Amino acid sequence: MAAFLRILSIFSYCLLAACLRHLQTTQLGLDPPTTNRLNGESFQQDALVTFNGYQYAVFWEASERNASIRHVVVARRVVGGEFEKLVLGDYGQVEDDGHDVISLGISQTDGSLHLIFDQHDNDLRYRSSTLGVATSPTQTTWSADVLFTSSILNFLPGLSSIDKPTHFSNVTYPRFLDIPRQAQKLIPGIGAGGTPDLLLELRVGRSGLGDDWLYHYYPADKNTNQGGRWVEVGKYLLGVNNNPYINGLDFDLQGNLHTTWTYRDFINDTGKDVAVQAGPNGPENNHDLNYAYSSDGGYTWKNTWGQAVANVHAPTIPSTAEASSEVRRIGNLPPGTPIAPTSPGIVVFGIPKFGGILNQEAQTVDSAGRVHVLNRENGTGVEQWFHYWRTSSSDKFTSGYWIRTPLPLSVPGDPNNITGIVGVIGKRGKLINVSGSSTHKNTSASSERNSGQGSDHGDSGDTLLAILPSNAPSPNNLTTQSSALTILQSTSKGQFEDWAVAWSSAGGCGWEPLVDRYRILEGVLSLYLVNLDGSSDGQGRVVEVVDLQVA
Ligand SMILES: *[C@@H]1O[C@H](CO)[C@@H](O)[C@H](O)[C@H]1NC(C)=O
Ligand SMILES: *[C@@H]1O[C@H](CO)[C@@H](O)[C@H](O)[C@H]1NC(C)=O
Ligand SMILES: *[C@@H]1O[C@H](CO)[C@@H](O)[C@H](O)[C@H]1NC(C)=O
Ligand SMILES: *[C@@H]1O[C@H](CO)[C@@H](O)[C@H](O)[C@H]1NC(C)=O
Ligand SMILES: *[C@@H]1O[C@H](CO)[C@@H](O)[C@H](O)[C@H]1NC(C)=O
Ligand SMILES: *[C@@H]1O[C@H](CO)[C@@H](O)[C@H](O)[C@H]1NC(C)=O
Ligand SMILES: *[C@@H]1O[C@H](CO)[C@@H](O)[C@H](O)[C@H]1NC(C)=O
Ligand SMILES: *[C@@H]1O[C@H](CO)[C@@H](O)[C@H](O)[C@H]1NC(C)=O
Repeated sequence: MAAFLRILSIFSYCLLAACLRHLQTTQLGLDPPTTNRLNGESFQQDALVTFNGYQYAVFWEASERNASIRHVVVARRVVGGEFEKLVLGDYGQVEDDGHDVISLGISQTDGSLHLIFDQHDNDLRYRSSTLGVATSPTQTTWSADVLFTSSILNFLPGLSSIDKPTHFSNVTYPRFLDIPRQAQKLIPGIGAGGTPDLLLELRVGRSGLGDDWLYHYYPADKNTNQGGRWVEVGKYLLGVNNNPYINGLDFDLQGNLHTTWTYRDFINDTGKDVAVQAGPNGPENNHDLNYAYSSDGGYTWKNTWGQAVANVHAPTIPSTAEASSEVRRIGNLPPGTPIAPTSPGIVVFGIPKFGGILNQEAQTVDSAGRVHVLNRENGTGVEQWFHYWRTSSSDKFTSGYWIRTPLPLSVPGDPNNITGIVGVIGKRGKLINVSGSSTHKNTSASSERNSGQGSDHGDSGDTLLAILPSNAPSPNNLTTQSSALTILQSTSKGQFEDWAVAWSSAGGCGWEPLVDRYRILEGVLSLYLVNLDGSSDGQGRVVEVVDLQVA
């Protein structure tokens, strides 16, 4: 906490499109005394979720009795208030492994919380709360005994009978994402009834040898007494002697789901300890930036030219009239066809092995449907952050065209020179879009934006924020990492080339920053950060939430 209070916010930044102002720093808890970070990893989706006036956070905290054992903590607060915590003391986490984060998803319809945690190539660990927790928060007693009465499952409710080794073994990187209303409408009926409101993505396999799968959550229905249940969408990203690493998944305002990824090729590491360390299956084996989108919640996928590349429908899903095999066969793609490394047209930028592209950095989609990726490359002999973006698919002239630009090595006015030093495996950043209407004071100008279907010509504009943690050594102690943070911004009006400093701090971001992707819709950039707590031994760390007003 102390660290972020030392922030100097420089008010002249407020002349730019997005003006960030520090609102509040709140401590969530103590980060466990492990070598690897169990809280705040770039792929952790999500650690911080705002819904219905409350913000929810998840993190590991060491047991009071034995610091080698960690428990899942779920915290909530009225947005802007103080957190109240509940501890799931009946599960003890013991591996010192930075993959083993906690991911949180919330059903907007039935109000249940969904947790997956402690996953690194092991059996699924899933737990959900009672119903109504998030939809009736004032009537909820914030207690583990009341809310988390069900046990930890090694399968998803509704899918107890599908083959566990195929679906729920060797699981890593669970990611939840709200399915917005406009996307719910596009999802085909699969005979289950109702409409899904939460998406789950996860990897099955291991680094260099794995596939990514998708599931939908159908909320509980009081009228039919039907409980909440998960439905398998299917394996959508196939690894072939490699594994895909996604930068993220995002729905646009039309309901299309976009994803970008890199492949990591397999190096046989038999006999080496790979549980914690990356090598020899490290990021040097990553290659290419790939892209695909789905207009039906993940069942079918197209490449950047709109050509069908995958028909994920699991062949095992019971047929209904609506989902007949005819409907489910797409051209020459039978059900059960994932996106493969050889699928045509998925590579949007060819980046060689040893080319410096990292796995799981950042992605967002803006209000005009432009897909933005933050990653890094070393094609020029200098490892540098790159911004890759796809023009709006509704743009008449440059529909779905990809642009790739390095972030400038030096951004004027950045005291941290954050873009000057980028490591091959340095701390990863985040990207988030803020719509023109929330950043432009002239509301009559911003109302010209044609609600999401915007073209690149004449829209009042989106502002893209890049939240960049320092990859450099600390200026005061070269054996430690700097905890500096700079937030850069660029605008659609400036073709995203007008990078400028929106915020900077010499400290306060000790590890990889995470963003509340939902609270930004209310004009607040809420960051989940891990920092030294300033204790005398220099070892203690805290998990905190830092709120910045976007104006
Ligand atoms: C603390 O937990 C670890 C991991 O389970 C165990 O090895 C150790 O014996 C425990 N220590 C004590 C004092 O109980
Ligand atoms: C996946 O898990 C199963 C056990 O369920 C194990 O037999 C298998 O070796 C694992 N595969 C990989 C690639 O780790
Ligand atoms: C790796 O090599 C070992 C022998 O060196 C072999 O037994 C094993 O099957 C190989 N693993 C894979 C996944 O190819
Ligand atoms: C980038 O590539 C150059 C030339 O191959 C190499 O000398 C340099 O070490 C690389 N930078 C990083 C950060 O790996
Ligand atoms: C920032 O770093 C870059 C790359 O090392 C360097 O070219 C530039 O001069 C630096 N700028 C400042 C202000 O230190
Ligand atoms: C960012 O883009 C998404 C997708 O188009 C949209 O739902 C969201 O409203 C945008 N966020 C902001 C803050 O404009
Ligand atoms: C706001 O934008 C509109 C449309 O571009 C323009 O006509 C108007 O003069 C602007 N108002 C101010 C106060 O800048
Ligand atoms: C630099 O940091 C290291 C690691 O925390 C510590 O051991 C060392 O004492 C520090 N050096 C100085 C000069 O503060």
